[in-house]
Amino acid sequence: MSSHGDVVQIPEISSLVEQAQESFRSRFGRAARYCGIAPGRVNLIGEHTDYNDGFVLPMALPLVTVMVGDIRVSGDSSRVITLSQAADEPRELEFGPGKLTPGKPAWANYVKGVVANFHLGQIPAFEAVIATSVPLGGGVSSSASLEVACFMFLAALTSHLESIDLKEVARACQKAEHQFADMPCGIMDQMVTCLAKPGTALLLDCRSLETDFVPLDDPELVVLVTNSNVRHTLTGSEYPSRRRSCETSAQHFSLKSLRDLDMDTLLNGAEGLADQELLRRSRHIVSEIKRTQDAAAALKTRDYKQFGRLMNESHFSLRDDFEVSCPEVDELVALAQSVPGVFGSRMTGGGFGGCTVTLVTRDAVDRAIEVMRSGYHGSATFYVCEPAAGSRGLQF
Ligand code: ADP
Ligand code: GAL
Repeated sequence: MSSHGDVVQIPEISSLVEQAQESFRSRFGRAARYCGIAPGRVNLIGEHTDYNDGFVLPMALPLVTVMVGDIRVSGDSSRVITLSQAADEPRELEFGPGKLTPGKPAWANYVKGVVANFHLGQIPAFEAVIATSVPLGGGVSSSASLEVACFMFLAALTSHLESIDLKEVARACQKAEHQFADMPCGIMDQMVTCLAKPGTALLLDCRSLETDFVPLDDPELVVLVTNSNVRHTLTGSEYPSRRRSCETSAQHFSLKSLRDLDMDTLLNGAEGLADQELLRRSRHIVSEIKRTQDAAAALKTRDYKQFGRLMNESHFSLRDDFEVSCPEVDELVALAQSVPGVFGSRMTGGGFGGCTVTLVTRDAVDRAIEVMRSGYHGSATFYVCEPAAGSRGLQF
């Protein structure tokens, strides 16, 4: 992937597929016949609401993971190679047909988790190569894109593409992440990676899994994704602890989830809550679920100013009430928010580093990048994006 300064020139999917095909040919001595493709994602609004049965509004990025390969000619173990230099070593994995368990290298757990949760049929021994343009660990879901690309590859390999139910794929990939990566994630990343449509954001009801594709195809607008290139180690422990806080609060109100809590009930019943921290955590969730619905409504009427205001409010709520931001990301968000032509900017993803997302007019995007680049104390990477397509599988 080339980059001019810190602005990444996003490669064509076809060139990524070709790169994986060439590697497959040189490693295994024949042409790959099957392929799975799945994008990374950015969440426009609705953060930490998915595991509270709430709403989210993500979109797919033009950054993708591809997995190409074929059934093994002879031998009963499978072999998978990742071309990503950011993955831990060794970058070639071999596993037998027996029961799979998580272990080292860490990257292989996503592949093994999907193989273990593939419910469409018997998987023959196979060989495959993975290539990606999604930055690993940057908060734009390289892991979900790897899981779903792997699932779609296996569906192609076993001739199940025609009958596939993408919501079931998302559920299987989420389970893979829970069981093999020890990450109790919600369903947002896998759902948008599976189902996204170009030129739209996906309003997803995480309780019913009902989808509403909201047009985001105004030629005057772009979505700027900025990687802070920091990731605080808190991420691993703080995510499950935020989940637990939300569950504790829902139990306090005798509710199944915070989706069913409204602000009045929260504020009136706050005295009984164990501490102020739980109140603030819950206030973020209740307000964010409402903001996400309001933001989708604003997008439908192309009211970008209102949409941007809600993005900004979302950031402040995540920073002050849910406490999952960090100084680097706050700095990038404040810089973006200061630029004329920027409608709104916020942290995106789980938090404690990773990326920001900014809605900006196309003619102001260079200025926004310049202001963020020169004002940021770290070194950021920029991706100028429009909503892209979801997953697919194919046979060459
Ligand atoms: P994010 O999903 O936001 O990028 P995570 O920490 O949840 O961040 O997942 C990143 C991990 O997923 C990587 O450290 C690596 O183990 C794995 N991964 C993602 N993409 C690939 C890839 N193309 N090849 C190998 N491993 C990958
Ligand atoms: C991600 C997680 C998602 C969602 C998000 C916060 O890291 O995978 O399911 O909870 O954090 O909105």
